[in-house]
Amino acid sequence: MIKFEINGKSTALDVDPNAPLLWVVREVIGLTGSKFGCGMGLCGACTMHLNGEPVRTCVLPVSAANGQRVTTIEGIADGESLHPVQQAWVDENVPQCGYCQSGQIMSALALLEKNTNPSDKDIQAAMAGNICRCGTYPRIEKAIKRVISNGQPLPQSSPKESAVNTSAAVTLASNATNATQATNVTTASSGVEIFEPAKREVPSKADTGVKATREAV
Ligand code: FES
Ligand code: FES
Repeated sequence: MIKFEINGKSTALDVDPNAPLLWVVREVIGLTGSKFGCGMGLCGACTMHLNGEPVRTCVLPVSAANGQRVTTIEGIADGESLHPVQQAWVDENVPQCGYCQSGQIMSALALLEKNTNPSDKDIQAAMAGNICRCGTYPRIEKAIKRVISNGQPLPQSSPKESAVNTSAAVTLASNATNATQATNVTTASSGVEIFEPAKREVPSKADTGVKATREAV
């Protein structure tokens, strides 16, 4: 059983400890904002935060998240209000196809949470591992600088819970790993989310990094 906190909520999953965190988050938990690009830790499309640090989740076994705090692109907005970094992306019209952008935002956010006034060099160093095939780099830089010039303190992207709740561990049905199935999320009285396998439509190409990438080869 792997237990960790994701976007401020405790979860416990019966999954292969060697499965990449990206796969577990996308296919088991059902949060598909983080994308599969290279699968080799080289492009940054899969970037999430592990305890506030940007990590390449396509090459990170889910066991590395055990007892830790994971934040995905879905966890940084405050309800309907975009996170200031997301808002800057909108204001600068950053995305083109959009595929790389959740990873770009998570890397930028990790930088800005540590350094509220990064230099050009700092920005380039922090963003160097995030590739954009559409070449949106100038707009990404402008968006980061917009956040800096706004000068507003950034909200913490994922407040830490006091502890991962281990009392309501949930075992997934083994067929939850089937690509044609997803998860319904309900909240138990304990407050721990329960992930239940459920039928769903096969997602579109635009939403499945694995399919889109493989079919492009
Ligand atoms: S770095 Fe993870 S998909 Fe490319
Ligand atoms: S916006 Fe298309 S890959 Fe970056």
